[in-house]
Amino acid sequence: MPFFPPEASSFAGNVDALYGFLIALTAFFSLLIGTLVVVFAIKYRRRTADEVSEHVKETRALEIIWTVIPLGIVMVIFVWGAGLYFRITRPPADAIDVYVTGKQWMWKIQHADGHREMNELHVPVGQAVRLTMASEDVIHSFYVPAFRVKRDVVPGRFSTMWFEATRPGKYHLFCAEYCGTRHSNMIGWIYALTPSDYQAWLAGGTPGETLASAGAKLFVQQACNTCHGEQKGARGPSLTGIFGRQVHLQNGQTIIADESYIRESITNPQAKLVAGYPPIMPTFQGLISEEGLLQLIAYVKSLSPNASEGGAPAPAAGPSVAAPGAAGPGGTIPGTPVPRNAQPRKASDTGKESQP
Ligand code: CUA
Repeated sequence: MPFFPPEASSFAGNVDALYGFLIALTAFFSLLIGTLVVVFAIKYRRRTADEVSEHVKETRALEIIWTVIPLGIVMVIFVWGAGLYFRITRPPADAIDVYVTGKQWMWKIQHADGHREMNELHVPVGQAVRLTMASEDVIHSFYVPAFRVKRDVVPGRFSTMWFEATRPGKYHLFCAEYCGTRHSNMIGWIYALTPSDYQAWLAGGTPGETLASAGAKLFVQQACNTCHGEQKGARGPSLTGIFGRQVHLQNGQTIIADESYIRESITNPQAKLVAGYPPIMPTFQGLISEEGLLQLIAYVKSLSPNASEGGAPAPAAGPSVAAPGAAGPGGTIPGTPVPRNAQPRKASDTGKESQP
């Protein structure tokens, strides 16, 4: 039984280095203090019944030393830890998107090209992967020890996290937040594949429809298109090209239209009204599942090809092999705004046409 799980992500080594430093520091001071307690207890023990200890006067030099040295040590820990924290919480721009839904007691994974997995996640080695995670019920926590990443998945909001696997292999995925009777069964595997194995995996299986085209269907089912269409004088703002852009709100503020903003606009439309539109949109809270929300967001993203993070694969991964059927027009519905880019992997191909 190894003492530590394998180091299989780009920052696993850095996390272990910081952790090792904390353990070494703790061990050093525990030993030093423990030893001094024993040595002093012997050296300064009471030798006769009437012995009175000397009066000890404070020394300024000593006070300064034992203030400055610990301050220096904790500042080292702070700067080191904060730097690592920023690295771990900021996904790089070329990360590919994967969507995760936690529910009692399973992990449901959706890839942008339509591949779905249950308690399993296949990722390519050497490519940053960004997870957008939601919970359908209670708090779960997505934990991959070999990657040194863990993030709570909280109902009613999105959590994001990212990692880049560095070694091909099969790694444990755990739920690390007690979530009910079968919490301990809410486990799975991450498969880190070489780029060629990953392309082979993508090409196999049945990808189904892409997230964006599933979202396009939902967009019509829920009649979103009646207000958010391209027609002149539409009752709601057009969604083409908004993802990743600044939106001007009724209250004078501006906000970036990211996943969380779109989610809030669906579940609580009055919270941040777009300037120039009346507060007429009903809430869809409870009417659309977490997976449906992720599909709608993928659809809105597909209307802004240039803004979709992770749209294009890293150059190192070679030409993208689109999964069979994934690029087909399966998801477009007559009479609705056609997603300019139902296949996010090809964002760069169609990038120019939809920027107004
Ligand atoms: Cu989900 Cu514990």
